[in-house]
Amino acid sequence: MSMNISFLKHTHLEEVFHYPIDNTPDHIAIIMDGNGRWAQKRRMPRAAGHKEGLSTVVKIVKASVKCKVKFLTLYTFSTENWKRPKGEIEAILRLPKEFLSIYLPDLISNNVRIEAIGDIEHLPVHTREAIKYAIARTRENDGLQLNIALNYGSRHEILDSMKELLTDINNGKVSLEELDEERFSGYLYTTGMKDPDLLIRTGGEKRLSNFLLWQLAYTEFWFTDVLWPDFSEREFLQALKEFRQRKRRYGGV
Ligand code: IPE
Ligand code: IPE
Ligand code: MG
Repeated sequence: MSMNISFLKHTHLEEVFHYPIDNTPDHIAIIMDGNGRWAQKRRMPRAAGHKEGLSTVVKIVKASVKCKVKFLTLYTFSTENWKRPKGEIEAILRLPKEFLSIYLPDLISNNVRIEAIGDIEHLPVHTREAIKYAIARTRENDGLQLNIALNYGSRHEILDSMKELLTDINNGKVSLEELDEERFSGYLYTTGMKDPDLLIRTGGEKRLSNFLLWQLAYTEFWFTDVLWPDFSEREFLQALKEFRQRKRRYGGV
């Protein structure tokens, strides 16, 4: 385990970038897309793009800590990504353990709390155990909450919640009369979290790909053609800057 990489301590970024902490989104969700194309452009295997994408994750987590973001939700593997070749799936699902074995000490010392959203029980044991260990080790932290969306699909989440809710209704724990949006939200994987204020999607596609369909109802969207491995603090701060200029009306005037 490499312990000498301290991504928050040895940085000169403060001198280069102005880190805004006023009117920063409390919750940022990111669809980290474009790893495969990044690698293919370089005639490298797609897995190399996923690995390269990890360095962007480090940068963006760091920037989020500095900007005092409360929740950062990263779309890492979708329920639809099982359609990919076996080798690529294996490569992607090795990354959480690889990432955490290097950076968990740093995340702990920076008060980051790790959570997972998605069906993590149906992941390979090494992936699941690495995530569960990180969740347990950071449970007491109250800084940035880093939500790793792994084997996540929004429709699956909504159906799962519905089933749980119906069980509670049948058992008399919840009555139909008291069921409202807030109560329903409590059955989702994101229970206890504020809905995302800002959604970022890299890689040029303009779609949600089954990400947080319920939670993104009033989220501001920001898209960039930049592929995830090339995404940097600069673009991240640009997204925050543009977010600050958005006028959120929530249906009002
Ligand atoms: C996003 O990058 C990462 C995952 C879906 C796991 P892609 O692998 O989708 O990259 P592109 O979109 O093919 O370039
Ligand atoms: C969304 O990207 C999933 C993740 C980033 C984990 P995809 O590459 O799977 O989305 P589509 O297939 O282009 O919609
Ligand atoms: Mg993609």
